[in-house]
Amino acid sequence: EQEKAEYKERIKRLLKEKDAVLVAHYYTDPEIQALAEETGGCVADSLEMARFGNDHPASTLVVAGVRFMGETAKTLTPEKRVLMPTLEATCSLDLGCPADQFSAFCDAHPDHTVVVYANTSAEVKARADWVVTSSIALEIVEHLDSEGRPILWGPDRHLGSYIAKQTGADMLMWQGACVVHDEFKARALLDLKAQNPNAAVLVHPESPQSVVDVADAVGSTSQLIKASQEMDNDTFIVATDKGIFYKMQQLSPEKTFIEAPTGGNGATCRSCAHCPWMAMNGLAAIEQALTTEDTAGHEVFVDPDLAKRAMIPLNRMLDFAA
Ligand code: 13P
Ligand code: SF4
Repeated sequence: EQEKAEYKERIKRLLKEKDAVLVAHYYTDPEIQALAEETGGCVADSLEMARFGNDHPASTLVVAGVRFMGETAKTLTPEKRVLMPTLEATCSLDLGCPADQFSAFCDAHPDHTVVVYANTSAEVKARADWVVTSSIALEIVEHLDSEGRPILWGPDRHLGSYIAKQTGADMLMWQGACVVHDEFKARALLDLKAQNPNAAVLVHPESPQSVVDVADAVGSTSQLIKASQEMDNDTFIVATDKGIFYKMQQLSPEKTFIEAPTGGNGATCRSCAHCPWMAMNGLAAIEQALTTEDTAGHEVFVDPDLAKRAMIPLNRMLDFAA
């Protein structure tokens, strides 16, 4: 604890010295989220992170999250230096959607509007007509559906199916999945709900359809946090990364939050739902990013031509959300 406090003090000083601000996702460890809050940075979902980085006057953004979040920040604000605790923090959706293969899929369906989830590389975004995050995906697809063109969606198949079901849109899917959310199990969740009859079930739409079907509220991380504040239940079963419990508990200290079960055989696996890449965002890595002379491994670069192309669908999303 003493060591952590010392790290925090040094990072606070470094952020000031370097005109830097910390932009953290709700899935990072509680101490990182707390540090972002204490230093005037933000803790947010992926749409709000993009917005915050875009609007904040600091010349350096320290993005504590996963690679696509840093790339999005750099794409939107190429004049800023974007640092990450580690560039190795990737995402299974990004990994499972190589740009060349995705591009070939798009080429094979030229009559489709290409909509990609933010959890993708800048190359994949550059091939898209629209980028969406889970907090705005439904509205954007509804809007596109009203224009009557079919949609090619990638990479998360569960989020895609959820949106297709909600909107009735004609969607052709890339078959990606999130390694964390894909593990939630509907049967075990129903059992847990039966044991906690007063509990409301909150589910991130990267979870399988059978799990989403059990939900009382479905949404992005920030939408789930809002639901946990606004719903009257005293207990919540939450199917998303356990990092989110920090903010939920902070906002509603009197409520009880239970992790949704992962793994087979109906077993409740405590603390399983945590993204291994989000977990790489530690205090030591943040300090390192802010002190090292050699920023390789920390600084995000996006090829300027690529950034110009990826910026178009990203800005379309931000303008739509505004
Ligand atoms: P949100 O946009 O809901 O924050 O989700 C990002 C993410 O990576 C979920 O796994
Ligand atoms: Fe990607 Fe899943 Fe991790 Fe989110 S939780 S960053 S979707 S692997």
